[in-house]
Parts: sequence; C-alpha cells; structure tokens
Amino acid sequence: MTHPANVITLDGLRKVFQADEVETHALSDVHLTIARGEYVSISGPSGCGKTTLLSILGLLDTASGGRYVLNGHDVAGLNAAQRARIRNAEIGFIFQAFNLIGDLTVHENVELPLTYRGGIDTSERRARVQEALERVGMAHRMRHYPAQLSGGQQQRVAVARALVGRPAILLADEPTGNLDSRNGEAVMTLLDELHKSGSTLCMVTHDARYAELAQRKVRLFDGRVVDEETFDRLRREDDSRLDALIGQHIEAGA
Ligand SMILES: Nc1ncnc2c1ncn2[C@@H]1O[C@H](COP(=O)(O)OP(=O)(O)OP(=O)(O)O)[C@@H](O)[C@H]1O
Ligand SMILES: [Mg+2]
Repeated sequence: MTHPANVITLDGLRKVFQADEVETHALSDVHLTIARGEYVSISGPSGCGKTTLLSILGLLDTASGGRYVLNGHDVAGLNAAQRARIRNAEIGFIFQAFNLIGDLTVHENVELPLTYRGGIDTSERRARVQEALERVGMAHRMRHYPAQLSGGQQQRVAVARALVGRPAILLADEPTGNLDSRNGEAVMTLLDELHKSGSTLCMVTHDARYAELAQRKVRLFDGRVVDEETFDRLRREDDSRLDALIGQHIEAGA
C-alpha cells in the first residue's frame, strides 16, 4: 500500500451538538492538513472545540458535515465496526488521565492494542512491547502495576501503549494536564524525541508554553481555525469584554 503525504486532511469539517432546543456549533468549517512526520499543536481557550476536534480525528466521534481523510481512508459514512478497525490500525491515543488498566501490569497494558488487532504472534508481541517500553525509558518497570508508578512514569507507559501498534499518527489531549511541571516537561521532551525519530503527532493543549514546542501551531477560536494575528485580536476582545462584565458586576453590587 502506498502512503499518502498527508496523514490527515480535513475539508470544511463541522460539528453541531443538539441538546433540547440548543444547538452548539462546536466546529465550523475547519480546514486542516497534517503531513507525515509533522508535529502540530492545537490550542485555544476553553470551549473552543479542541477535544471535539481530537475526538473526531481519533474516530471516537463523527462530524456533522465536511470531509475527513485519514491516511488515505475517507472515513465519512463508515459504520462503527469499520471505524474501530481503522482507529486501531492508524491511531495512537494519549489522554490527559493516562487511562491505564489498574489490574494489568505495564507489559500487559502496552500489549493490549496488539491483542485486539490479532494476527501478531506471542513472540512478535513481546518484542514490540519491549521496543515500545524502551523508547519511553520504562522497560525496567515491565512487571509493575500502574499504581506503583509515578504520574510521569504512567504517562510514559501510556505513550508506549499508543506507539506499540505503529500508528500513522499519535493524538494527545492535554498529555501534561495531570502532571507537575517537571514530569510535564519530561513528557514533552519524549514527544519531541518521537517527532525527531519520524512520528507524526497532533497535540491539543490550552497551555501556550507547550503549544510553542510543536513544529506548527494551529489556533482554534470558537470552533474555527484562525491565524495568529486574528487569534491575538479575538483574545484581546474577549478579555476586554470580560473586564467590562466584571466592572458592571462590581458597580451593580456597590
Ligand atoms: N456532548 C456535547 N453536547 C453538547 N455540547 C457539547 C458536547 N461536547 C462539547 N460540547 C460543546 O462544544 C464546545 C466545544 O467543547 P470542547 O470540549 O471541544 O472544548 P475544549 O476546547 O476541549 O475546552 P477545554 O479547554 O475546556 O477542554 C463547547 O461549547 C461545549 O460546551
Ligand atoms: Mg478539552
């Protein structure tokens, strides 16, 4: 199979949440491509649509409209089973809350995506788990359980689990959100190393410092991708609106 140059292509992507009478346009007309080997950060204020976008990219949710092509697969119109199969083969997920399984060892946690996939024999599985754990510097903790590891170590194991299936892209949602700054920086260094060794990464974060570390920064505001200048202007307008509201509030209370 030939691999397209772009791992991700979004064309006019939309997501509308319908709850009772209220329609929320979480994503509006999003155009985005991520090339093989790129490291992209997606950032923006709370509620701008970051998690929604990542869920759609990771085939955990479906768009309301527009086109999404993942590593050559046009994923619109696929059923849940087809989406699950493509997700398992093409996507490695890193969550904010590591999501390791407590009664499985480090080795078993990392092996899990391979057992779902099938067609990989035991010795090959063992070799791949070993390799993934070595890449994140956790091979010496193979027999430990998640509760016996620090937060930073747990997240490194979660990164190994995301890597082990050799996915086309790694998706990370606030990967440092549950870590102190030292462990957070260690995980960011690890992502940077993965990028340098050829992995394609897309990371969502509201932390501007971490967003800066990516090779390309995508800014999301109110469900739209905007350029840096527009983003700064919209944020300033938002801030002054908030200041005015707080001012009114104080006056009313005084
Ligand atoms: N299941 C849902 N039903 C209705 N509205 C939703 C649902 N999920 C998200 N939304 C709305 O969609 C918008 C985008 O939400 P999203 O979770 O993607 O934001 P975010 O950028 O990840 O925010 P944060 O930085 O706080 O995590 C918000 O206005 C949110 O209220
Ligand atoms: Mg979010």
